[in-house]
Amino acid sequence: PVTTRTTSDGTLQIGGVDLAGLAARFGTPVQVLDTADVRARCRAYRAALPDAEIVYAGKAFLCRGMARLVADEGCSVDACSGGEVAVAAAGGLPGDRIVLHGTVKTDEDLKAAFTAGVGRIVLDSAAEVDRIAALAPHRQKVLLRISPDVDAGTHPGLTTGTASSWFGMPPAEACEVAGRVLARPELELAGLHCHLGSQVPSVSRYERAAVRMVGVIAALRARYGISVAELDLGGGHAVGYAEGEPCLDPALFGRAVRGTLARACAAHGIDEPRLLVEPGRAVVARAGVTLYRVGAVQRCGDGRTTVLVDGGMSDDPRPALYGARYPVRLVGRATRAPLETVRVAGRHCESSDVIADGVRLPADVAPGDLLAVPVSGAYHASMASTYNQVPRPPVVAVAAGASLPLLRRDTPEDLLRRDCS
Ligand code: LLP
Repeated sequence: PVTTRTTSDGTLQIGGVDLAGLAARFGTPVQVLDTADVRARCRAYRAALPDAEIVYAGKAFLCRGMARLVADEGCSVDACSGGEVAVAAAGGLPGDRIVLHGTVKTDEDLKAAFTAGVGRIVLDSAAEVDRIAALAPHRQKVLLRISPDVDAGTHPGLTTGTASSWFGMPPAEACEVAGRVLARPELELAGLHCHLGSQVPSVSRYERAAVRMVGVIAALRARYGISVAELDLGGGHAVGYAEGEPCLDPALFGRAVRGTLARACAAHGIDEPRLLVEPGRAVVARAGVTLYRVGAVQRCGDGRTTVLVDGGMSDDPRPALYGARYPVRLVGRATRAPLETVRVAGRHCESSDVIADGVRLPADVAPGDLLAVPVSGAYHASMASTYNQVPRPPVVAVAAGASLPLLRRDTPEDLLRRDCS
């Protein structure tokens, strides 16, 4: 959906709201979330996979308002901690539409999950079977997470489905662990799960994973005579940040994966499982724009220009962690100044605090100017920290010309709230 509008005076509107006005009202940095965009992405997934359950990965961005939004669009939520379960539930998600994940599930995580009545718990390792069976207050549906040994073709820090990954058990172990689940009346083996990683650039990786997972389902049927009802293929669909980066289309994904599944199941003579997918970034990344105020322009000794802004790695750690690249643009005023290649850096005291390097900005950018960084709806607010005791920015939803704060900025009191020294 095109809810962004730029006019010749440099005004940028999102969801019918002027960004410069928002910055004046809420201060900077501020993250703006276009809720029409989030809704449209949810709908695109539901249209691409009408029989599947779309499980939004809450780790990308979660608060009550976001949970309400995706619930309203018919999605479930993947929570990877008791905290995410609690926020999803507080946002009105019914328990049966929450899936609990986690390589390590603490007693507190499980307590939150059982309190919310989560529909499914994903078991990552054999040791979880007896522990969760012993704690479950009622018969609990579980999925077994398998690491299918498929290279996601992404950044090593975002790869979770290869043979060396600890996210889920190797396929060879699945039969034995499934047997242990089947032996526990407190548990119901609802299905299998895998997640290849994040920013997965092509559907062929998912097709490969689907074929492997169908092989495991067939092995379970041969060994125990059971039919596995659900297959969760995880999330990780790539979103393009900078120009030319790959982007995975939900419709293409839906067609390819369903075709592959149908063929693989037919080859083994097994029923097709119901599909679950867990997109996080693909639902919310493009809905977000972060606004920063320029605080200084440093002409460095080597001739490079560094534009310094009032946020940085505390609200966007992605460039430092994954070498992520972002476009940046000047908003709020028109200029005829020529473009210059600059580095945009944050306010934190380290050289890895670079928001974008090698971006083109008007040469007259000066303190007080507003810069916008798009595609910042996923893994920004959710990974934000208060490093250097810098307050985390607010997140403001915009739609149909109105703005509604979802998260407020940290206050000085917030920064001291945990301090009991
Ligand atoms: N399902 C599971 C089990 C996951 O572990 C993840 C992400 C997802 C779904 C959603 O992946 P997505 O569709 O959002 O790519 N902090 C990193 C991303 C880490 C993702 C971890 N797991 C980043 O900023 O790129």
